[in-house]
Amino acid sequence: MKLAIVYWSGTGNTEAMANAMAEGAKEAGAAVDLLSVDEFNVDKLADFDGVLFGCPAMGNEVLEEAEFEPMFAELEAKLAGVPVGLFGSYGWGSGEWMADWKKRCGDDGAKVYGDGVIINDVPDEDGLQQCREYAAGFVKNALKAI
Ligand SMILES: Cc1cc2nc3c(=O)[nH]c(=O)nc-3n(C[C@H](O)[C@H](O)[C@H](O)COP(=O)(O)O)c2cc1C
Repeated sequence: MKLAIVYWSGTGNTEAMANAMAEGAKEAGAAVDLLSVDEFNVDKLADFDGVLFGCPAMGNEVLEEAEFEPMFAELEAKLAGVPVGLFGSYGWGSGEWMADWKKRCGDDGAKVYGDGVIINDVPDEDGLQQCREYAAGFVKNALKAI
């Protein structure tokens, strides 16, 4: 099982989540490529069995607009049937960006795993563990089902 974890992080919070996701996924037996957003594009999608995407809430409850959103928008036409997991850190909001993102992936036909993981500001040890468990569940359930 080959998994890409693709993330954008301005101040490191979503990056810490991405690192924990990688730990959990590897422990569950996946081969993991941990990639920042500039290292991934639509042509690489077919190299993987599934993708965990990480992006914090930015703008006004949207994905980061300069790098992550253009990359993600380009992928969307190819997401049908692809196992996808979502995660990200947020600040003052209530997680609306994640609910919108999840719906968007569903509308694209992606197989979205669970509700995604959202963590307020810096992830603490419980938050990191939540990330490890989500990624392990993704590997065991979403990837092994394909
Ligand atoms: C320009 C900007 C816009 C933001 N917009 C939102 C927002 O709409 N809702 C929210 O809950 N947090 C918002 N935040 C807070 C970030 O989501 C939060 O600081 C998060 O932990 C950043 O994650 P990162 O360290 O991975 O960049 C915003 C932060 C910045 C810098």
